[in-house]
Amino acid sequence: MFDPKSFIEQQQQEISGIQGRAVVGCSGGVDSTVAAIIVGQAMAERLLAIYVDTGYMRKGETEQIESLFIEMKINHKIVNCSDEFYEAMKGVSEPEEKRKIIGNKFIEIFEREAEEFGAEYLVQGTIAPDWIESGDGVRDTIKSHHNVGGLPEIMKLKLIEPLRDLYKDEVRLVARELGLPTSERQPFPGPGLAIRVIGEATHERTEMVREACAIVEEEIDKAAASGKMELPWQYFAVLLPVRTVGVQGDKRAYGDTIAVRAVSSLDAMSARFSEIPLEVLETISTRITNTMKNRVNRVVYDITDKPPGTIEWE
Ligand code: XMP
Repeated sequence: MFDPKSFIEQQQQEISGIQGRAVVGCSGGVDSTVAAIIVGQAMAERLLAIYVDTGYMRKGETEQIESLFIEMKINHKIVNCSDEFYEAMKGVSEPEEKRKIIGNKFIEIFEREAEEFGAEYLVQGTIAPDWIESGDGVRDTIKSHHNVGGLPEIMKLKLIEPLRDLYKDEVRLVARELGLPTSERQPFPGPGLAIRVIGEATHERTEMVREACAIVEEEIDKAAASGKMELPWQYFAVLLPVRTVGVQGDKRAYGDTIAVRAVSSLDAMSARFSEIPLEVLETISTRITNTMKNRVNRVVYDITDKPPGTIEWE
């Protein structure tokens, strides 16, 4: 029987013997957060949790993570680099190119911060399925997945991976033992909202999709909490590079289109579009067009499974 309490104690005893400083990249995922807290409690201010705000985070995400670090008393640094990212993404609309730019920029900033802190170690939230999967070479190669897993080879830092032998359900037990909120937000891609703005992910268009994603999340969370529907695996908005004709007041308008996506899935390898009640879709549509008057005049719902579609649109 897995005992989270003694697991934590044992890990912290080992980690406290480590000399030198460590950094951890945290973006709110449960694995990296749990790893950061275990190590942070053992190393105190010798650990720095680095959160890079790329400008493509969800609404309220940065604030939420910052207050968690404060509550958990983890030495941390929020690095706001939105402008740097928006600048690097200027004129880029090819999805893989967008991913690469974000991945590289992230590494560049993280490296800079780690060096400044004088880190010798990198803490990672690697769990058993991560390395078992990569060893077999059965990774999803349909889209190049950016995550912090690409950091160590380049950075030449020694690794601390306290969760290496755990499975997800065990990590959740450890999270609960540490007093972390157990309900996790839905999965969110490493490149963030940049891949939910189809085409060039400018600051302005990212703000639009950030707002639309927040509305979709709020309304679906509410509908699921009141028993109108099951909570999907993932649910969000996508801003399309399609402008259509509409009416605004008594004038003809030419506005943007938002697609709503919600799917059920077990492992993201395949997915089924969610059957959202029409009244919920209607509320979402009305809220989006009201919030973004003169800019969005059309909301559509994606009814494609994976395959043939993917969950994200890019
Ligand atoms: P797709 O869109 O390929 O996505 O059906 C499957 C799952 O992976 C997430 N996703 C990503 N995660 N970096 C990530 O860390 C990425 O570049 C990326 N692209 C997609 C997606 O949100 C879904 O959960």
